[in-house]
Amino acid sequence: MIHLQQISKKYDEKWILKDINQYFPEGSATAIVGHNGCGKSTLLKILSGLVVPSKGRVQYDRPITFHYVPEKFPAIPLTAEQYLLHTGVMDGLPVSQARVRIRELAEDFYVTEHLQSDMTVLSKGTLQKIGVIQAILTVPDVLLLDEPLSGQDVDSQKVFVEKINDLRSRGITLLMSCHEPELVEAITEKSYTIAQGVLVPASVAKEDRYLVLLHWAGAAEEKQRAGERLKGISEDILPYGEGYQIRLTQQACDCRLEEILAQGWKLRSLQKIQTGEKVSL
Ligand SMILES: Nc1ncnc2c1ncn2[C@@H]1O[C@H](COP(=O)(O)OP(=O)(O)OP(=O)(O)O)[C@@H](O)[C@H]1O
Ligand SMILES: [Mg+2]
Repeated sequence: MIHLQQISKKYDEKWILKDINQYFPEGSATAIVGHNGCGKSTLLKILSGLVVPSKGRVQYDRPITFHYVPEKFPAIPLTAEQYLLHTGVMDGLPVSQARVRIRELAEDFYVTEHLQSDMTVLSKGTLQKIGVIQAILTVPDVLLLDEPLSGQDVDSQKVFVEKINDLRSRGITLLMSCHEPELVEAITEKSYTIAQGVLVPASVAKEDRYLVLLHWAGAAEEKQRAGERLKGISEDILPYGEGYQIRLTQQACDCRLEEILAQGWKLRSLQKIQTGEKVSL
């Protein structure tokens, strides 16, 4: 789909990318990870033609429509809904259809109340979500996402993963720069990092996560307060029967489980999330 041929890029005499040769096949989903300033955004912009490489060229198998969510979304003097309507119509949606799709996606991403707000006053996270909605209003050939949901709440990330995987099932090609291993793992199949300007396969260190089922064994009047404390330990918490289901990283399990149990919670089960393997207690 996209072929990088001997791509190099320098800014102010400093080479950011050096002689990168890489093919991204149609339907593939690739993550670019790595430390701040290693060149992820630069590479995504070169892929889409927004930045011209200093050397080399980008070849496309056929004419491609790109949708791009930039790292920093420019503040635009329109309401979020006006902006989304404009982009939807530019992408070929009839106005009435665009309106419906925008309403649906805004609800899914919990931004309905912001649709009438001016884009210049929206928070960084809400702007990012508007950017994502704009990019998925219609189905592009290639979706380029530059840190699409960094630091966003768990519910929004879940919606995002669902939507992107739905687009993937329709055959889009995805390239995403991302710092969250969970997102990388949930959406992409290959990861690369940029080391001294060179694109190299990355193994995203993923931490084991555990599903913990708890029920309350302490005094009834204490239960609500204990529930609040649990929310301070894990954002990923759902009511489950007489207790809660929470997700914890391995590290959080090691550090916090004893404390949770000391507060009056009883452990119903503990399960490793990726493998479903039961953990002996
Ligand atoms: N327009 C520009 N002019 C000069 N230098 C630039 C320009 N754009 C990027 N750079 C430099 O190129 C390097 C790579 O920047 P880039 O934005 O691609 O990094 P990144 O990997 O996306 O970082 P982050 O994780 O912080 O988003 C940085 O040192 C940056 O300062
Ligand atoms: Mg960047």
